[in-house]
Amino acid sequence: MALSSAQLEVVDLTPCIGSEIRTDLDTLLSGREAATIREVLEQRGVVFFRGLDISDEQQVAIARTLGDLVENEGVGGINKISLDARVNQRAKYLKGSMFWHFDGSLQPLPNLATLLRAVRLSDTGGQTEFCNTYQAYEDLPESDKEAIAELRVVHSAERSQYYVTPEMSYEEVAFWQKSPTKACPLVWTHRSGRKSLLLGATSDYVIGLAPEESRALLARLRDWATQPRYVYRHEWQLGDLLIWDNTGTMHRVLPYPEDSGRLMHRTILAGEEPLQ
Ligand code: OGA
Ligand code: MN
Repeated sequence: MALSSAQLEVVDLTPCIGSEIRTDLDTLLSGREAATIREVLEQRGVVFFRGLDISDEQQVAIARTLGDLVENEGVGGINKISLDARVNQRAKYLKGSMFWHFDGSLQPLPNLATLLRAVRLSDTGGQTEFCNTYQAYEDLPESDKEAIAELRVVHSAERSQYYVTPEMSYEEVAFWQKSPTKACPLVWTHRSGRKSLLLGATSDYVIGLAPEESRALLARLRDWATQPRYVYRHEWQLGDLLIWDNTGTMHRVLPYPEDSGRLMHRTILAGEEPLQ
């Protein structure tokens, strides 16, 4: 609760990731505590507000107090996250969110943060898990830190689609190969000086390693970063507004039925830091 202020109460949920912030809607909308919320977000990876009962407009207004919106996401700053193709045309690809990833790995700047609000819940599954990639890096043995310091990983949309469709047709492979790939450092050195691991479902291969060595390293580091001690699992309640720091965490949603009606309203804050 170290970061609590007069108008915010911060309740930590695990030792290294996930806090509930208790406050009122006026405080959130005013932006008075925005700097503190950003600081808590960076330290805790995930924060959420419960019981506020907010509208889409209020979600977007709160987002604007925290950073710049990614304007071309959804309509009016709200994108509807659902596995129902009638609600979201990209529903099929959203199944990729069931595997550890961070958002925007193929964009010039990965998103700063994502706000997700629970509009409808699934009766089964649909919890969202987050892992702290700062702490996971920090705790690596020195020998690993040295070995991976300069490594770069090629990220591709194609790679992440094998999780959704393991036996893609030639046409599907060709389609996804049209998306440009991107080489990213395996260790992200942030402006703050802190370092985090950059992994996730778009991680295709480590440049310069033999294919099997590369696959083994990426799997070993993912297993490391997603150990229970680095993970917070959010059990959603209707109306929860949750924010994750997309630069210091990975996330995944636990499987839920396509016809469950689960609906999340998502707003994205634009990246502020290049990957280096
Ligand atoms: C996302 C995402 C997880 C969820 O919107 O980027 O991964 O719980 N969503 O729906
Ligand atoms: Mn995601």
